[in-house]
Amino acid sequence: MQLLDGKKTAEDIKVEIAAEVQKMKAKGEKVPHLAAIIVGNDGASLTYVGSKVKACERVGFESTLVKMPSTTSETELLRKIKELNEDDNIDGFIVQLPLPDQIDEQKVLMAIDPSKDVDGFHPENFGKMALDMSTFIPATPFGILELLERYNVDTAGKHTVVIGRSHIVGRPMSILMGRKGFPGNSTVTLTHSHTKNITQITSQADIIITALGVPNYLKAEMVKDDVVVIDVGITRVADENNPKGYVITGDVDFENVSKKASFITPVPGGVGPMTIAMLMKNTLLAREQKMA
Ligand code: GUN
Repeated sequence: MQLLDGKKTAEDIKVEIAAEVQKMKAKGEKVPHLAAIIVGNDGASLTYVGSKVKACERVGFESTLVKMPSTTSETELLRKIKELNEDDNIDGFIVQLPLPDQIDEQKVLMAIDPSKDVDGFHPENFGKMALDMSTFIPATPFGILELLERYNVDTAGKHTVVIGRSHIVGRPMSILMGRKGFPGNSTVTLTHSHTKNITQITSQADIIITALGVPNYLKAEMVKDDVVVIDVGITRVADENNPKGYVITGDVDFENVSKKASFITPVPGGVGPMTIAMLMKNTLLAREQKMA
């Protein structure tokens, strides 16, 4: 079994990006600038956004964190987005999800200028991705592709089973794994909460990507020998023995599934760090496209 080490790979990518930033600086060019909007005080979201800001410092980007109260109206958020769209100093920005109930997520994602949409969530960018056009690929799927590529995991002609159809991970992943090229050329099955006999499907899979947020869902009995397992789950599970009061737990019963797998991502230290690294990559691309 080989561990797909997202922590190390993400660090390699950040070193590469930092080198690009140094070149920009040496030429007297403006460095990439990422902004993030967060609405409300959700602990996990604040942690994720904090990691994104820290990653910006690490690679030499400028960053701006816009914190808005949980009572923010849709109009106020849309006004802020317009401001960032029009701010030439900002190359790309994200609106951290989920949003409070009074705000329509789709309206918000539609309001982001597609050329600054480094999350790749705008329908224009999502459509381009599905049509193999050059665009921002959502950071988590992009990170998974990068891991598969850097570890040279064979995906052509393989049966890839994606569990979960979220707009952020499952749905785009199912599209990307079936695209032409590497990593891709897979035969893809997208499974979800209405799927019947899921074990029958997962036990035929060469590659399984779990993105459902149910701790330890995928068991050893559900997979065949030499399976490749990508675990996108990051659920906080209460644990009084941990100083934080919780442990981050994946969708995969790692202890037992890893005994059968050829490649597997750990949680933490797998897909999570890759997501952040690829957001940096998209921000670099946004800056470069602006200069093109
Ligand atoms: N919430 C969970 N994942 C993400 C992400 O990749 N981007 C944003 N903006 N919000 C998220």
